[in-house]
Amino acid sequence: MTDLYAVIGNPVAHSKSPQIHAEFAKQTKQDMAYGAILAPLEDFPATVEKLRREGYRGANVTVPFKREAWRIASDLAARALDAESVNTLSFENEKILGDNTDGAGLVNDIVGNLRFDIRNTRILLMGAGGAARGVIMPLAEQRPGQIVIANRTMEKALQLAEKFSITAKTYSDLAGDRFDIVINATSSSLKGELPPLPSGIFADNALAYDMMYGKQTPFMEFAREQGASEIADGLGMLVEQAAESFFIWRGVRPETKAVIEKLKSC
Ligand code: ATR
Repeated sequence: MTDLYAVIGNPVAHSKSPQIHAEFAKQTKQDMAYGAILAPLEDFPATVEKLRREGYRGANVTVPFKREAWRIASDLAARALDAESVNTLSFENEKILGDNTDGAGLVNDIVGNLRFDIRNTRILLMGAGGAARGVIMPLAEQRPGQIVIANRTMEKALQLAEKFSITAKTYSDLAGDRFDIVINATSSSLKGELPPLPSGIFADNALAYDMMYGKQTPFMEFAREQGASEIADGLGMLVEQAAESFFIWRGVRPETKAVIEKLKSC
């Protein structure tokens, strides 16, 4: 019997996950099918129950349900506990196992694909919502010299800074600081906006990383003008988080490079 998986979101039609997992399944010869399920905004738990009853083996969870998935999981992996958000569910008998592969996806893209060594670097993480929260511990595990979190609403940055023992700043506090890696984990790019960054924050050979993908963002343009030497969007992270989910479900690590290249050319 073909094992069934899906991504659950709202909206979900734009999701590239079905294509990515189909590529992984073909490459690793796994007998599985992966679809996209639109869940009503008020009915995520019922959607999950329906999939379980139908014999699905697992699901990815995307906007806006990652927090709710964290709430309904019966067992949580450490990284999902830290993130307080779940993007990967595995259905095992009566259990709903919740994990979060977003942070691993980001780190694997930066280290494995972009070949950027995180150790001893100064990292600026912009944003203090779920997207930022999910990547703090995986970044910290790479032993950077420093992680600074910046957010318009200082209160939220302070809460994360306290929890994860990192430094919180407002955007204007950043004037005069220089970073080796600047990550945009805000939702500003979705709205065509730029976080209020001061000039001169990129150190020599700096990486600018926008977690959004699909088009040039105001942050990526700013990074170019400000002389960042490497500028990346979140397409690599998307494929890497999928690979990590695939590994959780199937116990096999798919090759990601060719899949990233293929998606870039679409
Ligand atoms: P997500 O789960 O994607 O992180 P979220 O919880 O709504 O979404 O958080 C959105 C983040 O983007 C917040 O950190 C928000 O900053 P505030 O907390 O100050 O609102 C940030 N954000 C959104 N638009 C922004 C902009 N134009 N400039 C800077 N930060 C922005």
